[in-house]
Amino acid sequence: MNIQNTVIKYQDHSIHMENRRTWAIRILALGGAVGSFVIGVPALLAALSASIQGRQKHAWRTAGIANDFKLGQITPTEVATDRGDWSKTLDRITVFVWRQADQRFVVFSRSCTDLSCPITFDHGSECFFCPCHGGIFAKNGVPLAGPPKRPLYRYANRIHDGNLEIDLHSLHPAH
Ligand code: FES
Repeated sequence: MNIQNTVIKYQDHSIHMENRRTWAIRILALGGAVGSFVIGVPALLAALSASIQGRQKHAWRTAGIANDFKLGQITPTEVATDRGDWSKTLDRITVFVWRQADQRFVVFSRSCTDLSCPITFDHGSECFFCPCHGGIFAKNGVPLAGPPKRPLYRYANRIHDGNLEIDLHSLHPAH
């Protein structure tokens, strides 16, 4: 054992440590790249999807067969809607359809104009009721009592191929 052997051993050890460090850095870099891909791609798709949807002017969805709605009555019905993100998952919203005349409809959002609680319609009194703070709306959506100051929101609607369609983009997404 002399100094030269000791130096060679030390150099071997240093080279070994250097290799381990290099591999550790590569593995960390690879992990970071994979992580960025896994997180970044869905986020990018969501952003693209949102921006494409934002550019769509209308989003017409079927609320039901027009003639199935009884004349003069308010009927709750469900409308399929996508969540608006990259997943394309379908969701459903409830709206209230008022068939005022043969070809004339009013479609109300279910959200109370106070703090967006879901309202219900009472056929006896012909009023909408909000369970949260006692808001009451007339059949035409005008607020009658409680905190709401604005009338119920309405969706634009049309008859297309015998179906009543509503434009989901005609309301703010929160309603
Ligand atoms: S949320 Fe409807 S009355 Fe407050």
